[in-house]
Formats: sequence, C-alpha cells, structure tokens
Amino acid sequence: MRIVLVGPPGAGKGTQATRLAETLHIPHISTGDLFRANISRQTELGKLAKSYMDAGNLVPDEVTIAMAKDRMEQPDAEGGFLLDGFPRNVSQAKALDETLEREGIKLDAVLDLEAPEDEVVKRIAGRRVCRNDSAHVFHVTYKPSAKEGVCDVCGGELYQRDDDTEETVRKRLEVYHTQTEPIIDHYKAQGLVVTISAMGAVEAVTERALEALQGGR
Ligand code: AP5
Ligand code: ZN
Repeated sequence: MRIVLVGPPGAGKGTQATRLAETLHIPHISTGDLFRANISRQTELGKLAKSYMDAGNLVPDEVTIAMAKDRMEQPDAEGGFLLDGFPRNVSQAKALDETLEREGIKLDAVLDLEAPEDEVVKRIAGRRVCRNDSAHVFHVTYKPSAKEGVCDVCGGELYQRDDDTEETVRKRLEVYHTQTEPIIDHYKAQGLVVTISAMGAVEAVTERALEALQGGR
C-alpha cells in the first residue's frame, strides 16, 4: 500500500505510522525524522533544516522534495510506503503526484488524523523523544517510560524536542492550518481521503485506521 498520513502536529502521526507500517509491512518514511537524523549527524542539510524547524516553519520545498524522493527510491519502498509529514503543502503534493505518475504508480489513501487543538498541545507538551532514534516516542503522562528520562527500547536519553516550546508549537499549528490543510482538498479531489478521529487510546486509533484503510473510501 502507498499511504500519506496527514494531521496537525502532535495528533499522533509518528506513533500511528510506526504501528501501521509494522502491520502493513511497509517502510515508515517521516521527513521530520529524516531532518532530525541529519541534525544529529550535523550535516549541511541538518544545519539548514534546524533553523526552519526551530522557528516552526517549513523547510524549503527544494531540499525537502529531493530528500523525500531519495528516500522513496530506496529498495525497501518499492512495494509501498507510509509517508508521515510529507507532502506538507500543495506544491509538495503536486511534486509527489508527478513523481508517482512518472513511475506509473498511485497512492491508495490519504489518512487524515483529526484531533482538537487543546489535545495536541497537551500531547506535545508531554512528549519525550529518544536521542538515539526519534521513532522512540514517549509521553510523561500518556506513555511514560519505565525509568524517567530513559528510553525503554534502547536505553537512550529522553529529551524534549527543540521545536516543542509553546511559542513554536503555536507557529507550527498556524503553518498546519494555512499550508498543510489545503492538501486535504487536493487529495479529496482525487477521492483518496479517509478521515478518522485521533482521540482515545493509541491501540484504538490504530484499529480505527486499519479499518478505514481496509474498508475502502
Ligand atoms: P514533524 O516531525 O513531522 O512534526 P509534526 O508534523 O509537527 O508532528 P509531530 O512529530 O509534532 O507529532 P505527531 O503527529 O507525529 O505526534 P506523535 O506521534 O509524536 O516535523 C517537524 C518539523 O520538520 C516541521 O515543523 C518542519 O519544520 C519540518 N518538516 C518536516 N516535514 C516537512 C516537509 N514535508 N516540508 C517542510 N518541512 C518539513 O505524538 C505526540 C505525543 O502524543 C507523543 O508524546 C505520544 O506519545 C503522544 N500520543 C500519541 N498518540 C496518543 C494517544 N492516542 N493518546 C495519548 N497520547 C498520544
Ligand atoms: Zn531509544
């Protein structure tokens, strides 16, 4: 399957993507995680991305599209993929359309995770991420690690993302409404959008997502 996951910051895209990718046997491709990996390796791309991310803005399309394309061309993505955080504006969506068309392949669905603003703010405020792998995500209340500050998966140090400050979160939400939400209409026109509520337990949301994806549109 080829799926795009969309939803506001903190809706649980990364959390659900990890679980869905495992069940559906497809790679989870997160542009946010790819940028964070570049930041920790201190690459030129990482340095560039960090300045935009810390301000809550989108990283420029040119580098983002090139990075996403490069990842989608890896052998493990041949049979399908779950895109998390890409595309994030209409021009990225159009670039993805063109790439897929050139390859003669199509998206199966765009899964839209809906969550109210007060909930996503709570989720982001309590989020703690592993220094070794940004796919290892915890929450001080909703998903605490067994030992405070230590990742249950690999023993790495848990930290609060630099872009999870109150001010940056407000900016990220604004960017989501103005730049990312319009891609939902773009994909509605292609009949691809399935919308589910991201509220409730993590497991319940995964079940809802799988049902929506398998039940067609
Ligand atoms: P990115 O990393 O994609 O961040 P985001 O979209 O803001 O989303 P988040 O990672 O904040 O949240 P999430 O929805 O994945 O939630 P999570 O599962 O962690 O992007 C970061 C930045 O990179 C952007 O601002 C931009 O600068 C740049 N960027 C990335 N892609 C780009 C692109 N295509 N173009 C340009 N720039 C780009 O969950 C949140 C918390 O809630 C966790 O603590 C989790 O444990 C908890 N939680 C999850 N589900 C539940 C639940 N059901 N109940 C209770 N708690 C839950
Ligand atoms: Zn870890």
